[in-house]
Amino acid sequence: MNLFDVYPVNDIVIEKAKGSLVWDDKGQEYLDMYGGHAVISIGHTHPHYVKRLTDQLNKVGFYSNSIKIPIQQELAAKLGKISGKEDYQLFLCNSGAEANENALKLASFHNGKKKIIAFKKAFHGRTSLAVAATDNPKIVAPVNETDNVVFLPWLDEAALEAAFQQYEVSSVIIEGIQGVGGIQVATPAFLQKIRSLCDANNAVFIADSVQCGYGRSGKFFSHDYAGVNADIYTMAKGMGNGFPIGGIIIAPHIQASYGLLGTTFGGNHLACAAGLAVLEVMEQEKLMENATALGAYLVKELQALPNVKEVRGRGLMIGIELPDSLAHVRKNLLMQHKIFTGEAKPNVIRLLPSLALSQEHADRFLTAFRKEINI
Ligand SMILES: Cc1ncc(COP(=O)(O)O)c(C=O)c1O
Repeated sequence: MNLFDVYPVNDIVIEKAKGSLVWDDKGQEYLDMYGGHAVISIGHTHPHYVKRLTDQLNKVGFYSNSIKIPIQQELAAKLGKISGKEDYQLFLCNSGAEANENALKLASFHNGKKKIIAFKKAFHGRTSLAVAATDNPKIVAPVNETDNVVFLPWLDEAALEAAFQQYEVSSVIIEGIQGVGGIQVATPAFLQKIRSLCDANNAVFIADSVQCGYGRSGKFFSHDYAGVNADIYTMAKGMGNGFPIGGIIIAPHIQASYGLLGTTFGGNHLACAAGLAVLEVMEQEKLMENATALGAYLVKELQALPNVKEVRGRGLMIGIELPDSLAHVRKNLLMQHKIFTGEAKPNVIRLLPSLALSQEHADRFLTAFRKEINI
């Protein structure tokens, strides 16, 4: 049997990983400034993470949500404390798309309305509602097409106000920092506007924090920079440091009832152990502080470079926009300097390293990058 060929892949086989480094099957070392697509939050194979998962696996790896699973409550308590949203309610699932799917559905259950406002260049995942709210017609199958989603221009307050006049809005979904869209930071003023319009119109504010959340921006949720709360935050990627786990946290005024949401795998023992290990390491090693400090350092150094068009982002979610003449840089970073980075089309290099990135590794990246842009 062959694999269904949907990914253009680099000809590299990773066999070992530690912190921000990975090694291929020939023993070649690589610096991981990509974090396996913003997933590696506390560093590859962190010893506390490995031990917690191994210990849990030796006890019980999975049982269904038909029994009590106390480690779910432990995870909820820790997440409430670290995120500062202690009065929110946690629903666990398995991926970012699933988190957004549940959030959009829950919003509609809550207020009985249908219209979803999303934004140009948004990416929310590939399941039916999540992909319908994603601004990329190429990945929307005919069966996913719906009139229930309206796309508005990014950060356009007048368009937002007009849409609330025109439609019975169920929810507004927005990334605090657009990832696939090229590291575009939502302004506090725009997020505050969404908050006030949702309040005035009984609509649900959904903060897609799948990529920009979980400490990556230096705050637990990047939307927190606006000083207002969303009604639902969606999470995945960094939540399990590679173990598939996603979730939504839900404001207290949105009520649960039996059967409203459900999942087979979501919230299993092993996933919760991974989630707890991540939060414990984030707390013990002060990784949000590290993301803030090293992110600010990288941005400052990158902004000082003459050939770079623009540097955007917060914490360790950074986009470097390059001119067409430097379109080859990302490939060279990988091939010549053995550094993984991400990309956003057409010419943005995305840095999404582990939140435990060291100064030495940040400098290793900068030295290689300067060389590639001929400084
Ligand atoms: C902002 C955002 N939302 C949702 C998703 C979908 O997450 P997943 O691939 O886990 O379904 C992604 C994935 O890249 C994302 O960046």
